[in-house]
Amino acid sequence: MRLTAGESVASKTSRDVLGRGLRVLGQAIREQPRIFAVAVSGSVLFGLLVIASAYVVGGVVGNVVVPAVERGEVARGALALAATALFGISVLRVVGIFGRRLGAGYMQYRLQAAYRRRVTRRYLELPLAWHHRNSTGTLLSNANSDVEAAWYPIAPMPFAVGTLVMLVGAVASLFFTDWALALVGLAVFPALFALNVVYSRRMAPRQARAQRLRAEVSGIAHESFDGALVVKTMGREAQETARFAARAGDLRDALISVGRLRGVFDPMLETLPSLGTLAVLVVGAIRLRQGAITVTELISVAFLFTVLAFPVRAIGWVLAELPRSVAGWDRVRRVLDATGEMPYGTRTLDPATRTPATLAFHDVHFAYEPAEAHLPGAQVLGEVTFTVPAGKTVALVGPTGAGKSTIASLAVRLVDPGAGRVTLDGVDVRELTAASLAGTVALVAQVPFVFDDTVRANIALDRAGIGDDEVWAALRLAEADGFVAALPDGLDTMVGERGTSLSGGQRQRLTLARALAGRPRLLVLDDATSAVDPRVEAAILAGLRAPADGGAPASILVVAYRRATIALADEVIYVEQGRVVARGTHTELLATVPGYADLVTAYEQAEQEREQKQTYDEVTPMTSGLEIEVDR
Ligand SMILES: Nc1ncnc2c1ncn2[C@@H]1O[C@H](COP(=O)(O)OP(=O)(O)OP(=O)(O)O)[C@@H](O)[C@H]1O
Ligand SMILES: [Mg+2]
Repeated sequence: MRLTAGESVASKTSRDVLGRGLRVLGQAIREQPRIFAVAVSGSVLFGLLVIASAYVVGGVVGNVVVPAVERGEVARGALALAATALFGISVLRVVGIFGRRLGAGYMQYRLQAAYRRRVTRRYLELPLAWHHRNSTGTLLSNANSDVEAAWYPIAPMPFAVGTLVMLVGAVASLFFTDWALALVGLAVFPALFALNVVYSRRMAPRQARAQRLRAEVSGIAHESFDGALVVKTMGREAQETARFAARAGDLRDALISVGRLRGVFDPMLETLPSLGTLAVLVVGAIRLRQGAITVTELISVAFLFTVLAFPVRAIGWVLAELPRSVAGWDRVRRVLDATGEMPYGTRTLDPATRTPATLAFHDVHFAYEPAEAHLPGAQVLGEVTFTVPAGKTVALVGPTGAGKSTIASLAVRLVDPGAGRVTLDGVDVRELTAASLAGTVALVAQVPFVFDDTVRANIALDRAGIGDDEVWAALRLAEADGFVAALPDGLDTMVGERGTSLSGGQRQRLTLARALAGRPRLLVLDDATSAVDPRVEAAILAGLRAPADGGAPASILVVAYRRATIALADEVIYVEQGRVVARGTHTELLATVPGYADLVTAYEQAEQEREQKQTYDEVTPMTSGLEIEVDR
């Protein structure tokens, strides 16, 4: 009872997959109708010529070879005619194959490229909240293997469509020749078709499993190479090797099971047409004796059966790829149909204004989206209100997890508040255009990201109006000109994947220079100089507040811990558990807020201990920020 229920579910889902797979193919045809027409025309031409060639070969044997054998005379005229016909057919068949292959290839690769572009563009449109829920691995496989899988059946599809036309033509030609032979055809072709369907149905889950395991094996390999440092220092080589070996073994078994199925079905698919040919010869011999058909016709039909077998397999190829295609298509659609887009407004801030911007948070509340939709998101920020006045520096201080990075993300509109407003010069950031926002604010994130490119490209990012002079000016402000000038190729030095050839502090200063090169009117620094020597950190901040080149200073919101850095701020905002607990100058807070004093002192102690153990890349004793400012 349960078995029947399971079976009916299975057959229902496979019918479902067939229907949905055909709809995916329909979508492909709608997107590339002309190329599809070329490919199918090539394929239909080929199919009809296969039938024609069978009749020409039959004609040659019946009219030239048989008389020659029986009577020893060669009908030269007929032979020449047949040779010409066969040659013509061969040429046209080549044209057909060419058209089909070229069309199918074009169609498949064009669709893949188009959908890769769509998926990656969509990634960049989707808000950060969506990215928090989707791993990098998933994003990569959506844009690569899922897009590829969705369009796999496109390659054999024109062949399969042409084959269907050919089968109809073949059956028609059989009826035209002799009804008894046609009946043999009607028995053999559907059997061949059914065998292909069974084959592909059995094959599909095995191949899907193999595909999934391939991804897992490379995922494990990727992770253990990526984490080579942890693996080695923690002595996890044996465990990692075992984890990899287990999955690699599963993949081997899955591939062997694919091979075993192929071993069973391939011979059957080869044999069936031969059995058909045998049946044709038996039935044909009887019909020949009855005088219903000629030798020519018999040979033609027998030959037709042998040449039809191969193209029929194309239908099986398409069917075999459909489940994988549907699965890939579903994942691609999930990205393309993802909602939660962050629409930009239409207002702009005067681009000519180079004066610092005013940032204000008005009673902002924020919760990250929960991992599962039905759960409530945990409140991260509540009633956050503060202002960074034009040209001023505000330090954001608070224990780890207090919500400082979240405030920084809200300030540059990487995320939107659940309630309340974030404004720039009095305009809600949600009303601004993307360009206006990007031209006004810059965030230097807690974790620096460096592209695998030259120093110059990493700073300029192809933005208009940023030439080498601007790049050097930004590097000077970020106190990075010294080390960049000392690099072997200067601005042209490649920094390696994620900046692996740079020290942590150098990476941070490079990303700072990137932000500065755009001359933002509001700069948000999220613990952006933590790996930099404290003296240099204070010098950077002092330089930003009063640029040496006389340029306009930016308003600055800086997440910081070091006393020297905080002391430079006009105001300090102290946050705990997503709430603004206290605000005032550094001295005021030290005197009045015990939690603040504890935090700053604890950080200082930790830093001093660290300093004793390790030397920074530019060693100097810690001095107060004010002295630095006087120095300059
Ligand atoms: N992507 C996320 N999804 C869910 N919760 C998050 C996410 N990012 C941060 N949180 C949570 O929000 C709270 C605030 O995090 P946030 O990163 O803003 O803290 P922070 O003050 O910057 O901490 P740190 O000093 O360690 O950088 C924390 O409780 C954290 O667990
Ligand atoms: Mg943070």
